[in-house]
Amino acid sequence: MKTSTLLGVATLLSSAHAYNNPILWNDLADNDISRVDDTYYYSASSMHFSPGAPILRSKDLVNWEYIAHSVPSLDFGAKYNLTNAQGYNRGTWASFMRYHASQDTWYWGGCIDFSKTYIYTAPDVTGKWSRRAVMNKCYYDSGLLIDNDDTMYVSYAADDAVWVAQLSSNGTSEVSSQQVYVPSEDIGYLEGTRMYKHDGRYYILTTRPSRGTHILMADEPFGNYTLKELVLNVKLEGSDAGSIHQGSLVDTPDGDWYYMGFVDAYPGGRIPVLVPITWGDDGFPTAALVDGAVSASYGDPVAQVAVPALTGTDTFKELGPRWEWNHNPDTSAYSVGDGLTLKTVTVTYGLYSARNTLTQRTLGPDSTATIELNYAGMADGDRAGLAILRDQSAWVGVKKDSGKFSVNMVDDITMDASWNTNSTGTTVESASISGGTVWLRVYADVMPGGSNTARFSYSTDGTAFTGIGDDFTMGTSWQFFMGYRFGIFNYATTDLGGSVTVASFTLDAGEV
Ligand SMILES: *[C@@H]1O[C@H](CO)[C@@H](O)[C@H](O)[C@H]1NC(C)=O
Ligand SMILES: *[C@@H]1O[C@H](CO)[C@@H](O)[C@H](O)[C@H]1NC(C)=O
Ligand SMILES: *[C@@H]1O[C@H](CO)[C@@H](O)[C@H](O)[C@H]1NC(C)=O
Ligand SMILES: *[C@@H]1O[C@H](CO)[C@@H](O)[C@H](O)[C@H]1NC(C)=O
Repeated sequence: MKTSTLLGVATLLSSAHAYNNPILWNDLADNDISRVDDTYYYSASSMHFSPGAPILRSKDLVNWEYIAHSVPSLDFGAKYNLTNAQGYNRGTWASFMRYHASQDTWYWGGCIDFSKTYIYTAPDVTGKWSRRAVMNKCYYDSGLLIDNDDTMYVSYAADDAVWVAQLSSNGTSEVSSQQVYVPSEDIGYLEGTRMYKHDGRYYILTTRPSRGTHILMADEPFGNYTLKELVLNVKLEGSDAGSIHQGSLVDTPDGDWYYMGFVDAYPGGRIPVLVPITWGDDGFPTAALVDGAVSASYGDPVAQVAVPALTGTDTFKELGPRWEWNHNPDTSAYSVGDGLTLKTVTVTYGLYSARNTLTQRTLGPDSTATIELNYAGMADGDRAGLAILRDQSAWVGVKKDSGKFSVNMVDDITMDASWNTNSTGTTVESASISGGTVWLRVYADVMPGGSNTARFSYSTDGTAFTGIGDDFTMGTSWQFFMGYRFGIFNYATTDLGGSVTVASFTLDAGEV
């Protein structure tokens, strides 16, 4: 723990009013953080997972809970239904979410498939969100500023430059747009924009992919912008994750400012880190680094307010906002209320082409997921279980073949560089089971620079677990963007008609 160097923070730390980075060890990239009164909101990317663009809420910038999604369904074309094509690595990313006070309306906007920008609005942050407009233009990596006079501006990246557009008053069309900044060669490509107004000046936060964050400042929304570095090649203290980059700025009701960036922390994904900033006489903000790094701990922005823990048991009385499907689900084939019932919807040999896989982010630095699975209703040829899911995956699950049930560990489920299935997997170990109920468990260590191991076990009584298969080494490349998730699946290899019920999902921190 840092003691003396940091302006006044030492006193706060010594009385334990401090928070730790990362703020929340969940894959929540491209954050757009904003404040309404004393409440903070966090919008994040979820790409091919549905519903899209999760929303979290906090009273203190430190403790966050999932509350909703801005994009109810990825209805951007057939591939997002995972029927004859796939939308892996596409969907919702680097979007914005802001509250328009005088319209009492929430806005979400994002470029989908590199071609069109979709605008969704809602009367309340928890919904009901609906599509307001589709613009024939890609606001790539966009940020929304609602100015004091209610004019809406969107910053975005295009043609190796930073741009600003003015939107119509209800956000359905563009009034004008202009290139506002062309980075020099030594800075290179900029993206991941967010637009702000502070003390009468306009700012655009922008990222140097995976390396750092710069900020542009001007007197007018369309320029003339000058640039300064905020963080460049800055790591999180004590972490092997990548440099802090992208993200957003936010202030407290008392006028203290923070930068919420994220670090690439594969195999887990991209996780948020919160850094205090101060505004200098030159009009630019400076990050409160300690010995050139983001500190693992800073004094609390405001008094902490606890939220429900991510760990614990979910019995699926409803489908909470922490859950997202791999692509759009077939809603007629699942139900919740008394456990999660999954009917098979796809006949396939591949997990990546199976519909209705229900996912949740792994919790870092390591966590264990356990499901109680009732498999009595499976049909011959069906496979159901718990996966550690990304572009290289493995699972523990039940197979029914020739009327007999077995529990299996399967690995080597891989995608090619275009995210199509490359390998449907290899069964490493199989054991026969009976009785109709099995507990399936996956442990995942997603600490960057750690073992990156997933480990599998099962139980027929919910108490004594037996390891199965081999340890699986999770991939750490960034190209798939999304980090590893736990995924509950049920698919057919011969005929539809079977179903399973997941009585519970339990998430524990660490290895159980
Ligand atoms: C995707 O599935 C939904 C729900 O089943 C359906 O309403 C929609 O038409 C499908 N979209 C496409 C493009 O096939
Ligand atoms: C937005 O404003 C335009 C122009 O006034 C109008 O034609 C359109 O119906 C409005 N759309 C919504 C969703 O308010
Ligand atoms: C923008 O700022 C630069 C540097 O201060 C100056 O040379 C240039 O004339 C300005 N352009 C406009 C349009 O104000
Ligand atoms: C594709 O599958 C083969 C066979 O399992 C494997 O050797 C290869 O590494 C896989 N390629 C990728 C890109 O995962």
